[in-house]
Formats: sequence, structure tokens, C-alpha cells
Amino acid sequence: MTSKLRYSIIPAAGLATRFLPASKAIPKELFPILNKPAIQYVIEESVGAEIDRVVFVSGAGKEALLDHFDKINPKFPVSRLNRQIQENIAELDDMIDVISIRQKTPKGLGHAVLKGCEVITEEPFAVLLPDMMVLSKGDETVMQRLVKIYSSFRCSVIALMRVPTESKGLYGIAEGKKIDKDLIEISKLIEKPKEGETDSDLAIVGRYIFTPAITGYLSETQPDTRGEIQLTNGIEKLISTEHVYGLILDENDIVFDTGTPEGFAIANAYMAMQKNPNVIKELNRLAK
Ligand code: G1P
Repeated sequence: MTSKLRYSIIPAAGLATRFLPASKAIPKELFPILNKPAIQYVIEESVGAEIDRVVFVSGAGKEALLDHFDKINPKFPVSRLNRQIQENIAELDDMIDVISIRQKTPKGLGHAVLKGCEVITEEPFAVLLPDMMVLSKGDETVMQRLVKIYSSFRCSVIALMRVPTESKGLYGIAEGKKIDKDLIEISKLIEKPKEGETDSDLAIVGRYIFTPAITGYLSETQPDTRGEIQLTNGIEKLISTEHVYGLILDENDIVFDTGTPEGFAIANAYMAMQKNPNVIKELNRLAK
């Protein structure tokens, strides 16, 4: 099996009802975090890990998302754009190949990944959920570390973060045994556990690398009571035949849940603070 990862699947078909009315006509993935659309941070994570074929699984009303990664829009006359801005915009357009596939009906994350797999034949791939923005203050991004682990062990690996007890019900939670400082072998996954269902506090972040075997398991996975095929249920089946590792994020890693308006606003405030330290003073002043 090849160790080089070429494909990232980005499930982006969601209707973003939590963002209504803002998401009525504009795909939520294009909402800006400072001057960059949220999706661009995710694509940069993929490209930073040298994965440059991006498979968007999108749906109706998401055309603008694909346009964003086209060459500079002719409506911006090049001569009128500052050269630096031109270069910044052009760079990412040149670095990725965009492949688009549609999820005609919303049937869950597992189904979206399965759709993405239709363009990938028998090779490992990454999945990045755009509802989570993952940054790192350390030398390597989370995706870069996941790629390294995959290259060493040739098995599926998913990023995990510690969450407080009251937040466990929002995520897939992993149990497993420690095999290194920040690495576990996953033995069980529970999607959005009820109170007391698991002692583990390790939540799935939304950054995954899979071996091709996941495809077969996802296609066998039955929809849940809401009619959705859960990615977590497919991974549970994968665990029964292959090692699946979990990389535990450390204090240098920062995760924003940009799937909620509040999390999105926090990501914006954080990026603004990074750019201009006066922002924190101003926010503190306003909060008094
Ligand atoms: C999905 C996954 C869940 C994961 C989460 C991360 O849930 O099913 O396991 O922890 O993403 O954001 P969703 O947020 O789509 O309900």
C-alpha cells in the first residue's frame, strides 16, 4: 500500500442551519475568519501536510465554495490588485486540485465520506471536517503529525482532544490503550455518548487518515434512527480487523468549533488578537 497521501475529503454539504439567516444564500464555509474564508484554513492544513487533491463533498447552493479555489476571478482586474495580494490569492489556487462530488441528500457524515471515496481507488486518504478549525503553535500541524504516524505504521489514525465531561455528548469519544506518550491504539468508539457511558475524555477532533478498508465498512454500515450513516460506526468496524491509532493533541494545539456561531466568533477574535494585540485590550474593556 502506498504511503503517500494524495487525497483529502472535505465534507461540506451541510445546510448550516445554526447559522441562519447568514447561511441562507452564502455557504457557511465561505464565512470569513478575518479576511480568509473558514474553508481556506482547512485547505491550507491539507496542503501543509502535502495532500493536494481535495475532494469536496458538497450539495445544492455550494457552487461559490468551488469558485473560491478557481484562478483569480476575472472581476478583479489583475492590474488593480496589489502584487502581494495577487500572490497570496494565486498561491493556493496553484497548489491544489479540486474535485467536486455531490451528496444529493443529507445522509450523514459516513455517507459523505463514502461519496468522496468514489473518486479514490484503493489508496489511503485524509478526511478534514471544516466545522473544526485546528491550529498549532508548535513546529508541526496536527495533519502533519497524522501523516507521519500513518507513514510509520501504515494504519488509520485519528486526532483526539481532551474535553470536559459536560462536552462529551457533542463528540465521538475514543477508548483505548496507550502505546506512546501521545498515541493510543483505539479499542472502542462511542458516538455522542450519554452521561456515564464512557470514562474516556478523548474526543474525535475531525481530522482522520484512513486506509482504503474503511470504504467497505462504511458501505455496510446501516443508517441510525435519524437515517444517517455515522462515520464513527464505520471506524468501529475497521477496528475489528485493523489497528486504528489515536493521536492526542497537546497544549500547543488549538481547536475552534466553528460549527457554532459562538465558536466561529471565538476563532475570529483569536485570529484578530494574533494580528493586533490591542484587540484583546478592547475586548476586555467592552466586557467590563
Ligand atoms: C462529527 C463526528 C464526531 C466528531 C465531530 C467533530 O460529529 O461524528 O465523531 O467528534 O464531528 O466535530 P458532528 O459534529 O458532525 O455531529
